[in-house]
Amino acid sequence: MISQQAFDAVTAMFHRVSGIQLTTAKRALVTGRLQKLAQARGIGNVDRYVEMLLDENDPDELVRVVDKLTTNETYFFREPEHFEFLARMLGRRSGSQPPFRVWSAASSSGEEAYSIAMLLADHLGPRGWEVVGTDLSTAMVDAARRALYPLERARQMPQAYLKRYCLRGMGEYEGQLLISRDLRANVRFTGANLMESLPDLGTFDVIFLRNVLIYFDPPAKEAIAGRVIGKLKRDGYLFTGHAESLTATRLPLRSVQPAVYELA
Ligand SMILES: C[S@@+](CC[C@H](N)C(=O)[O-])C[C@H]1O[C@@H](n2cnc3c(N)ncnc32)[C@H](O)[C@@H]1O
Repeated sequence: MISQQAFDAVTAMFHRVSGIQLTTAKRALVTGRLQKLAQARGIGNVDRYVEMLLDENDPDELVRVVDKLTTNETYFFREPEHFEFLARMLGRRSGSQPPFRVWSAASSSGEEAYSIAMLLADHLGPRGWEVVGTDLSTAMVDAARRALYPLERARQMPQAYLKRYCLRGMGEYEGQLLISRDLRANVRFTGANLMESLPDLGTFDVIFLRNVLIYFDPPAKEAIAGRVIGKLKRDGYLFTGHAESLTATRLPLRSVQPAVYELA
């Protein structure tokens, strides 16, 4: 197990970069995740690995640590109420409007962004829309661009979408799916830290900010949500995870239904 001193040092570094505070309850988890990185460097002891990390201050190694310590769990069509809401929104849209833009902030390995893209392609056709996915973890951004997933993450994906927008892997890719090239053409991924000023991404009709606020304390959560809604169009909607209410904040938001907000 990692020593308390090494744990404090590495989690302080992680907090500075990501804004996420890992409590001592996560000591075993942090030990397990850092052990893998230590082994890759031929170091048998996690405390020595942390010492090396802080001494060398190598930005590539720091990125690897941040990648390992973020929680990236996600799957296709998670929290289906948001996709139902989006489908109703698209149903109300008339023909000649500007491109419909959706942002998956904290997109992890990309399942959320591609689920949105499937719905948009189904309702609006192959053009006239765009999905942008961003995440702090460079490893996750790379995985999202690769667009190759274990089939079990698609349990909630409608069968028709699986057939239309995914290629089933064969041979060495058995048990995996690849998102079709056509769908990928309208989805792009880039790195962005929600704790810092955001890159110029334009404005969005819908922003998915789901299952990431839960890791932050109330002031950081409010600051992130405040920055994110700066990118929302006047008549746009913000979706948060169902465990992440923003109603207790002073942000200019009105609740529309659980985990759905519009600008006040
Ligand atoms: C549990 S996943 C959520 C994925 C997806 N939104 C969903 O609901 O299924 C949380 C993601 O937030 C990202 N994350 C954590 N801190 C972040 C930060 N400061 N800026 C941007 N992304 C961050 C992590 O890298 C991780 O991929």
